[in-house]
Amino acid sequence: MITFENVTVRFGDFTALPDLSLHVEEGEFFTLLGPSGCGKSTALRTLAGFNDPASGRLLVDGRDVTALPSDRRGIGMVFQNYALFPSMSVRENIAFGLKVAKRPKDEVHERVHEIAEQVALTPAQLDKGVAELSGGQQQRVAIARALVLRPRILLLDEPLSNLDAKLRNQLRVQLKELQQQFGITSIYVTHDQDEAMSMSDRIAVLDHGRIEQVGTPREVYERSATEFVCTFIGSVHRLGEQAVSRLSQLPGSPVAEGLRSYVRVERLTLRERHRPNDGRLVVDGVVDRADYHGYFTQYAVRLGDRSVSVRVPWSATESAFAAGDEVAIGVAPEDVLQYERSGPEAGA
Ligand SMILES: Nc1ncnc2c1ncn2[C@@H]1O[C@H](COP(=O)(O)OP(=O)(O)OP(=O)(O)O)[C@@H](O)[C@H]1O
Ligand SMILES: [Mg+2]
Repeated sequence: MITFENVTVRFGDFTALPDLSLHVEEGEFFTLLGPSGCGKSTALRTLAGFNDPASGRLLVDGRDVTALPSDRRGIGMVFQNYALFPSMSVRENIAFGLKVAKRPKDEVHERVHEIAEQVALTPAQLDKGVAELSGGQQQRVAIARALVLRPRILLLDEPLSNLDAKLRNQLRVQLKELQQQFGITSIYVTHDQDEAMSMSDRIAVLDHGRIEQVGTPREVYERSATEFVCTFIGSVHRLGEQAVSRLSQLPGSPVAEGLRSYVRVERLTLRERHRPNDGRLVVDGVVDRADYHGYFTQYAVRLGDRSVSVRVPWSATESAFAAGDEVAIGVAPEDVLQYERSGPEAGA
């Protein structure tokens, strides 16, 4: 449906996207995830027609749209700062694109009401000024304004980042429902890995304008292709040489020595000492601190002169620990993620 083919984008001497190739399937919810400045917005803006690539092509349905003006690409875009017209009412904001397209008055009225209802804006809110609405309501206006034009493609650039956690969660669900209901192919930009994981069909992880990995949330998380992806997503513990060596000697262990090795903090186990180790490497430590988070507890465990952070999900059967408790940390060899070293050589 959407293809970036060797797209290069420069700003003066600076190359924001050196050579981006990417394919998004019809109906997919696809996310670009990466740290600030990695080129996420640049990629979206280039697809929408706000940046001109220095080389490469953009295809939509196999058609080259690289030279098409922005408004002829059939793409809707929602910006991080909403970009609403502050002096217009909610209704006027949503109707704007339809008026520009010179749709008949009745149709405009009908479509505005229909889309407002779908994003849970009330008729009374339609006649308010944009400034009278909360952040979450304004965000829904921005989404309605894009959806009312019935684009086949919707680009969303960190649309929820200005909202508080609760509202963000609510709108995540609504947004995903709208996307599925309309079957719109969507590219979503975020630097929030939790948001990316929970909403996306597939994720592309970017660093310095290059793709480190494309995969389902599960693939990206459980089989991180590069050290960058492994450390950017979730929380990891880097294993010391001695631990790696001992892990490599366990029966049937896939662990190799001499590689950089990590384990996700929620894969570490924390048990009373002298319990059976289930084929894990077990290291004795002492709990320094226990931070209760409700559905999990984060422990700082002292191992000699190191402190290791272990995240233990709430459990009805496993005991909780307190500072001073003597414990054993366990690592299963199959949970170890290993990399040569972080480098810019990773390709698409
Ligand atoms: N119009 C521009 N002129 C010059 N440099 C730009 C321009 N737009 C972006 N850049 C640079 O290109 C790089 C990528 O920027 P981009 O906005 O795409 O990053 P991003 O991944 O969206 O970051 P953030 O998460 O902070 O929004 C940055 O180094 C940025 O400074
Ligand atoms: Mg951005």
